[in-house]
Amino acid sequence: MDQDQDQARPSRRAAFVAAGGVFAAGLALAGCGGKPEQKSPGGEVSAVEDLMREHGVLRRILIVYRETAGWLAAGRTDFDAAALGQAADLFRAFGEDYHERELEEQHVFPQLQKAGGPAAALVPVLLAQHARGRQATAFVRARCASGRIAPADAPALGKVLQDFARMYEAHTAFEDTVAFQAWRQSMSDKERETAGDQFEKVERSHFAGGGFEMAAGQVAQIEQKLGLADLARYTAGAVPAP
Ligand SMILES: [Fe+2]
Ligand SMILES: [Fe+2]
Repeated sequence: MDQDQDQARPSRRAAFVAAGGVFAAGLALAGCGGKPEQKSPGGEVSAVEDLMREHGVLRRILIVYRETAGWLAAGRTDFDAAALGQAADLFRAFGEDYHERELEEQHVFPQLQKAGGPAAALVPVLLAQHARGRQATAFVRARCASGRIAPADAPALGKVLQDFARMYEAHTAFEDTVAFQAWRQSMSDKERETAGDQFEKVERSHFAGGGFEMAAGQVAQIEQKLGLADLARYTAGAVPAP
């Protein structure tokens, strides 16, 4: 267990309380636009879909990281550093303390290791990346804690954001296409159903409601604060004729 983990462990609940405003805001957003979890046949979210849509939220945080890293590299520190700090808070609460610890490390990885094969061989690397990610998150939170980024911190912060985004893009891509697929195949239909129910239970106990909806609402708010909410801004520029 790394030092940051050590510090985070006893205060995990406290962190959720601290992030309460954040998640309450997310919940309010979900109330306005998000849909409550469907329980009707055909509307249920499987365990793998659950994990993959959580990756979607985390990748939106990675986009925030890449964009702000670009600003920092260009010498800009005049953006809303508190919003960047909130992105790291969300990554900690939703990505690390919930998605990684409660779902992947408790359920997916042990089952993969039991099943063996190429996906099992990925597990030590995935765990090492979780640990490195926690260090990066702690660093980002610390550098944004005052609500402004000291110009002297900009190069190191930009590099941590960029490196972390690069690592976690690969991490989620390998999980989606190798680890989760092997996990699904290692289970019977009944076991898959049980896993889905189990994940739902964990989500409810962790967030007192729909964690995904709350996190998706929260990341949208962060994007708004940083002027990153419009999907069209990412459309590539005109491409020269071949
Ligand atoms: Fe992971
Ligand atoms: Fe993951």
